Amino acid sequence: MRTWSVTRSPVPPSLEDPAAWALHGASAVSFAVDHDTYGNDDVAYTAQYLHVGLTRTEYTTRVLLVAHRSDLASPTAQDVVGLANLHMQRASNERMAYVELVVHPEHRRQGVGAALLAEAEQVARAHGRSVVIASSDHRGEPAADAPGALEAPTGSGRIDSAEPGAAFAHRHGFVLEQAERYSVLDLPVDPDLLDRMHAEAADRAGADYRLHAWRDSLPEEWLEHFAVLETRMSTDAPSAGLELEEDVWDAARVRAAEERIAAAGHAFLVVAAEHEPTGTLAAFTMVEMPHDRPAVVFQEDTLVLREHRGRRLGMLVKADMLRRLAASHPGAERVHTWNAEENSYMLAINVALGFRPTGVSGEWQKHLT
Ligand SMILES: CC(C)(COP(=O)(O)OP(=O)(O)OC[C@H]1O[C@@H](n2cnc3c(N)ncnc32)[C@H](O)[C@@H]1OP(=O)(O)O)[C@@H](O)C(=O)NCCC(=O)NCCS
Repeated sequence: MRTWSVTRSPVPPSLEDPAAWALHGASAVSFAVDHDTYGNDDVAYTAQYLHVGLTRTEYTTRVLLVAHRSDLASPTAQDVVGLANLHMQRASNERMAYVELVVHPEHRRQGVGAALLAEAEQVARAHGRSVVIASSDHRGEPAADAPGALEAPTGSGRIDSAEPGAAFAHRHGFVLEQAERYSVLDLPVDPDLLDRMHAEAADRAGADYRLHAWRDSLPEEWLEHFAVLETRMSTDAPSAGLELEEDVWDAARVRAAEERIAAAGHAFLVVAAEHEPTGTLAAFTMVEMPHDRPAVVFQEDTLVLREHRGRRLGMLVKADMLRRLAASHPGAERVHTWNAEENSYMLAINVALGFRPTGVSGEWQKHLT
């Protein structure tokens, strides 16, 4: 049997540098895997995106591992058959390492995944991490009575336990903690539907809320408020049995996130609802648009603070966002989003706006010994 080596990607000064071979190889594998799983590459990692992760390490340490045949003295991008991308937050969740692990469909069941995971766990340990979280991606969702259907312990969402990602995670001692629904919204959304949803939500929210929209940079006076929303995102969004802690943001981190998004080659839009009586932000939603793929939109965080829930603010900010997106990005064709399957309020908003369930991702956790 063939043996595999796992190499830590260098951090090259640019993507043209010869040391960028691992980034280009990892990106090519990500594109091949997404074509195999979803039939498109909308959410695959570009080399630029991976590079930005390795260079901006103020808040998160990232380590990219790539696998190739052991008998190659100087591997090239074409030799990369799999990747493990580790994220380790620096100021919170210091016990935790997140690992994205994928193997090229033509090189599976030959021990590549196992070699990558063994090295990823070593790296996690070396950084003092004792818990690893990984995701498995699945197209569609099996029926409750389908053979091999595995339900998340939350009672919401199922994956097929026989599919590669689930079988691999289970075999390596991970426990399924949560299922996330992957949904796609085809654009444009019927403008009449959007106007109706917007008007109904605005009516319910009442006169106390005022919407703001920002593109690519937030005004200075809202940075601290926005940091509160991002911090609450880490505690108020459902995380099931995943052992996640509060992740505190401040104004400097919001600015750093803006810079990281720009460096990755993405634009972003935020729509936020201000609670006028207190002058604070009550809700927001954010999307990113990669400049090199004008058809694609990534739905990022959406949150309504607990104390402002029940007033349709979630629908209001999302409907407003979609109206703005239609005007500013007429070439956009699809919005991609992931939501916890037990997050029924968020899912109901998305379904009402036309998002269609496309897949499920299993969220797995393992304690390192
Ligand atoms: C999951 C994935 C990374 C496995 O990569 P791989 O290189 O094929 O994994 P390995 O060959 O090292 O498999 C190790 C063990 O995992 C289990 N396994 C892996 N794929 C499996 C499958 N399709 N069916 C059943 N068991 C499987 C087996 O126990 C296997 O050992 P064996 O081949 O000796 O029986 C790959 O299928 C993939 O990229 N899937 C899509 C991305 C994903 O879901 N990642 C999840 C990470 S948790």
